[in-house]
Amino acid sequence: MLKKTMSAAAALAVGSLALTACGGTSSGSDDAAGGSGGGDDTITMGFAQVGAESGWRTANTQSVKDSAEEAGVELLFSDAQQKQENQIKAIRSYIQQDVDVIAFSPVVETGWDAVLLEAKRASIPVILTDRAVDSEDDSLYETFLGSDFVLEGERAGEWLVENAEDSDVNGDGSINVVQLEGTTGAAPAIDRAEGFADTIASDGSIEVVASQTGDFTRDGGKRVMESFLNSEDDIDVVYAHNDDMGLGAIEAIEAAGLTPGEDIKIITVDAVKDGMQALVDGKINYIVECNPLLGPQLMDLAEQVVAGEEVEPRVVTEETTFTQEEAAEVIDERQY
Ligand code: AHR
Repeated sequence: MLKKTMSAAAALAVGSLALTACGGTSSGSDDAAGGSGGGDDTITMGFAQVGAESGWRTANTQSVKDSAEEAGVELLFSDAQQKQENQIKAIRSYIQQDVDVIAFSPVVETGWDAVLLEAKRASIPVILTDRAVDSEDDSLYETFLGSDFVLEGERAGEWLVENAEDSDVNGDGSINVVQLEGTTGAAPAIDRAEGFADTIASDGSIEVVASQTGDFTRDGGKRVMESFLNSEDDIDVVYAHNDDMGLGAIEAIEAAGLTPGEDIKIITVDAVKDGMQALVDGKINYIVECNPLLGPQLMDLAEQVVAGEEVEPRVVTEETTFTQEEAAEVIDERQY
């Protein structure tokens, strides 16, 4: 038998957190992996989401909820509003409720060992999804499912190196890049900056002249871009760690009387529908894809770890890149 099946009524409100239960029919498996009884074999997953900061995150949340429903997994869902303390509270509440498995996308990389140890001591397996933690003890979680963020940064940098001549908008032989960073301390912000910096280092004419966090939000991207436009007199390129911040930057650039995609080149990461539309419209020049549709793989992994099966410690999602022409070909079928 699996651990207790949670009903919607069992969802707890912890502090300012909204924890909700979704989905949940029988999974049909006859599993014997642990737990404290209960009358059926439904898997209960506690999922601690980062927040709702971006189009990517909305698509990711929908994918997790839809896949749980399809797999017959009882999902307890919480939105941490981009605050680590909220995620920790949510994880503790899942431990208290004795769920079968906990999955979460850590808002920042560090500071997780204590709560992960609590889950381990309660014999509740943990799956990291989307973002990694920075811990020396990899026995604290079963696997990490998500993108290779360093590779995403490298891909952004490769496009710029290959298109360096066109990207020298001001024609002075130097390409000044302003970077809109994701949430400070978050794996995608750290890794996308690193991959990009390492790659552009091969071309001495490219330099990141200013870099600040826009917290992965459209408002943040707009605000930081407005300040860059005031403080920097020669911006050739914006590198935004996600589409939403790039879309915010577009608003700031247009408000300054400039043409995004021409007067200032824009590279982003994600490839959500709004970003892809801006790419087709010529306002963004290149997008590196980050796939948010992690739900089906997450449910498969959850079933395996709850059944006590060995899983790969790292599952990397497959992703691509889009030029303006490539985006035009796929925009109509884009799901999110
Ligand atoms: O962790 C994935 C990143 O988080 C996405 O690229 C970004 O849009 C989101 O907020």
